[in-house]
Amino acid sequence: MDVQEIKQRFGIIGGSPLINRAIDIARQVAPTDITVLITGESGSGKEVFSHIIHQLSARKHGPFIAVNCGAIPEGTIDSELFGHEKGSFTGAHEARKGYFEVVNGGTIFLDEVGELPLGTQARLLRVIESGEYIRVGSSKVQKTDVRVVAATNVEMFDAVKAGKFREDLYYRLNTVPLKIPPLRDRKEDIHLIFRKFVADFSDKYRSPNVVLDEGAIQVLINYGWPGNVRQLKNIAEQIAVLEKNRNITAQSILNYIPNDNRSTLPMRMSQNGSKEDFSERDILYKVLFDMKKDMVELKKLVVDIINHGGGVSKYAENNPQIINSLYEDIEMPDNESTLTIQHPSNVANNRQDDYHMNHQDVEEVEESLSLVDKEADMIKKALKKHKGKRKAASEELGISERTLYRKIKELNLN
Ligand SMILES: Nc1ncnc2c1ncn2[C@@H]1O[C@H](COP(=O)(O)OP(=O)(O)O)[C@@H](O)[C@H]1O
Ligand SMILES: [Mg+2]
Repeated sequence: MDVQEIKQRFGIIGGSPLINRAIDIARQVAPTDITVLITGESGSGKEVFSHIIHQLSARKHGPFIAVNCGAIPEGTIDSELFGHEKGSFTGAHEARKGYFEVVNGGTIFLDEVGELPLGTQARLLRVIESGEYIRVGSSKVQKTDVRVVAATNVEMFDAVKAGKFREDLYYRLNTVPLKIPPLRDRKEDIHLIFRKFVADFSDKYRSPNVVLDEGAIQVLINYGWPGNVRQLKNIAEQIAVLEKNRNITAQSILNYIPNDNRSTLPMRMSQNGSKEDFSERDILYKVLFDMKKDMVELKKLVVDIINHGGGVSKYAENNPQIINSLYEDIEMPDNESTLTIQHPSNVANNRQDDYHMNHQDVEEVEESLSLVDKEADMIKKALKKHKGKRKAASEELGISERTLYRKIKELNLN
């Protein structure tokens, strides 16, 4: 099957060299039993590619299961993947087969593989290398024949360097790396994909097809698409359903996309005044959370340089208090939720231009700045907006489903 036929069969639209190359790699690696690590931003098409690899392999008549490793609570993930014996933990009333047993002869797609706990990583390495696994609560080694395709939307090697992901497993998974380019790197495909989606949705909702003018096309092409093809699809659907005027201009497109091109915020700006929408202030808080994460990363990097590289040691000698505070933050068991930003007002002021906030808004933010409250608030809003669906809510918030699950527990939101 050539690249063109694969596109047809799997509904992949676009002809950019990057996407053609990815399809070609998938086509070549599919018939082997080699483990593939698919990397790419959320919504870029990783799951579609896992189907291609399975369907073009000798295992195509065998089972295929997609597992979102980020969505399964840590306490049950071993049992989900490898099964458990009756009575192996409280609530284990019956023995249960794990995915690796059920999928024997087929392919397992491990999405967000970077989220696996270290213990599970060890089990995974074993089953990939030898086909051997042990059910939770058992001592009997069992065999299975499963091809693993894994995916991640984060830079996995950072996790390796941070000690969160086993290096040996990383190299084992990454035997053949398959990179799915973000939509903004295949601009020539954007209009094509949009047209196809909007035509399909207009068909589905029995609304007349829409026509884009040149300005509208330019807006689509120049936007950064942080949510990639999924976001494009979403907006095409909204336009197909909601736009009364079927001749779409730049302005009508702008009503549907966040008004900050550079932003990778997964949230939509409030645009129709609906209560469920996220306000600019919410977005400011999201920016603060993101910056908090970046800061932790940055601090880790600095510590790393201090420990392993020479150049900074003078700086360290002269500023012992800075170095101490760096270590403090990093050694916190859960820096993501406990690190505090020391000068939020400065942060807010620096960012205000980006988000078109007026001074008054920023002042209000200073008065009521409690990240914990705001975090709880945003989680509630996101859950409400998505009618309690955690997957959708976590996507909107830009956190993994498991982080959302943990935060709901921590913040007592149930
Ligand atoms: N090139 C493409 N052409 C058409 N639809 C695509 C393309 N790439 C992805 N999609 C669609 O975009 C959505 C998101 O893709 P998915 O594989 O779930 O992304 P990821 O797993 O990377 O988050 C799906 O509905 C998928 O069918
Ligand atoms: Mg996905």
